[in-house]
Amino acid sequence: MIAIDRRAPKALHRQIYDAYRKAIVEGSLRPGQRILSTRALAAELGLSRLPVLNAYAQLLAEGYFESRVGAGTVASSSIPDEVMSSGPTGARSPATRSGPRRLARRSSILSPVESSPWLRGRGAFSVGQVASDQFPLQIWSNLVARRSRNMDASSFHYGEKMGSRALRETIATYLRTARSLHCEADQIMIVSGSQQALGISALCLLDPGSCVWVEEPGYRFARDAFALTGCDLVPVPVDEEGLDVAVGIKRCRKARAAFVTPSHQFPLGVTMSASRRLQLLDWAQSSGSWIIEDDYDSEYRYVSSPIASLQGLDTNARVIYIGTFSKVLFPSLRLGYVVIPSDLIDRFLTLRRAIDYGPPSFYQEVVANFIDEGHFARHIRRMRVLYRERRSVLVDSISKELGSRAEVLGGEAGMHLTVTLPNKVRDLEIAELAARQNLWIWPLSPSYLGEVSRSGFILGFGSTAAADIPRAVRMLRNLLTTK
Ligand SMILES: Cc1ncc(COP(=O)(O)O)c(C=O)c1O
Repeated sequence: MIAIDRRAPKALHRQIYDAYRKAIVEGSLRPGQRILSTRALAAELGLSRLPVLNAYAQLLAEGYFESRVGAGTVASSSIPDEVMSSGPTGARSPATRSGPRRLARRSSILSPVESSPWLRGRGAFSVGQVASDQFPLQIWSNLVARRSRNMDASSFHYGEKMGSRALRETIATYLRTARSLHCEADQIMIVSGSQQALGISALCLLDPGSCVWVEEPGYRFARDAFALTGCDLVPVPVDEEGLDVAVGIKRCRKARAAFVTPSHQFPLGVTMSASRRLQLLDWAQSSGSWIIEDDYDSEYRYVSSPIASLQGLDTNARVIYIGTFSKVLFPSLRLGYVVIPSDLIDRFLTLRRAIDYGPPSFYQEVVANFIDEGHFARHIRRMRVLYRERRSVLVDSISKELGSRAEVLGGEAGMHLTVTLPNKVRDLEIAELAARQNLWIWPLSPSYLGEVSRSGFILGFGSTAAADIPRAVRMLRNLLTTK
């Protein structure tokens, strides 16, 4: 029933998704009919399981498939009438959908975010959520109100091209003292979160066909930003010292760039060792490559003092350093920054200008005031205590409920940790079921670009109150025992 064309521009998971959807909508797959297991279909098509899992997850999320206890996955018994009458493409009105509808190839090379239901919700364990009820809202509102009252004519114009000067000065001071960076405010560009920094860096540094080292396992949204340039992603394994530079050199010595999270590797939580940092910097200098350092959550470190940045060790201006306010303030603020080597500033700026003119100046000024008046440092100190407690309750609950089967990784820092389980755990399916119970765990396997060598879950604890953690871990245990 499913024919796959490996040379087609359409991504494999999309081809599988479309074929099943068409079969269900046209009635060749009947309600309740069993669907091949992902493993069997992958074997039949001669593919890795990842595209099949992605397609199935999306079909489940959209209600074309159902999971039935004892029967596995079946075609849904309740496809909405609207879809059934709309034909295989779901077209509702031929007038709006006729004629060729050609899109850029890059519009279909990434896995759709909707196929990952765990990214949608907010609640226990959602990754990247902060303790919003602990945010000093009164202080923030006062600063916002004060800023509004003081808006003058210049506040209505486009902001400064690299971002608010006041905020950049403040960030430069903070980074020099707290993160040991070598930087001046002139090198700092304010962006709308690390994600935009990754996108701009990718545009500026990569060509189609350039090799880029990415951590394996690693951060999917960084890979996505790079993949859009048409570069070749080279997975480089992470061990207990961080990215294995020697393997990277073996796989592609001349890579144009390496993406790393050295302070708290995402998702395994390793801190890159000093010797690996030096090895990576040496490689970058000798091969004329760039290092993109994503320092997304280093402010929260529980077992030792914060680890200095890689950029601070770099004597050859090879590191593009990215930071964000998503963890230390809140993610909907969409503010982050890039520290750019001086000779690249104009290139970064020209590219950014073609994408947008920068995040709202208003909130940049509010954040500058928030930092300058001491609220930022106080907030981080309070949150460090709170998150340390949540993390410790989580680690204890995992050990109590999951026992020796589970290994906890990366709980020394940040707002999430990773639990790995024996390989047979179907983390994608469990995460999908968990999302239906309001448990927003990220499966570990999509963090792999190549072969999945470990399975498990990434659990955020930033927004989960300590009192709610034991019950949520029990729910996870129940899911694991019934699956
Ligand atoms: C590795 C990594 N980098 C960056 C971010 C933050 O991204 P942004 O600043 O775009 O919100 C996250 C959020 O979870 C992350 O896990």
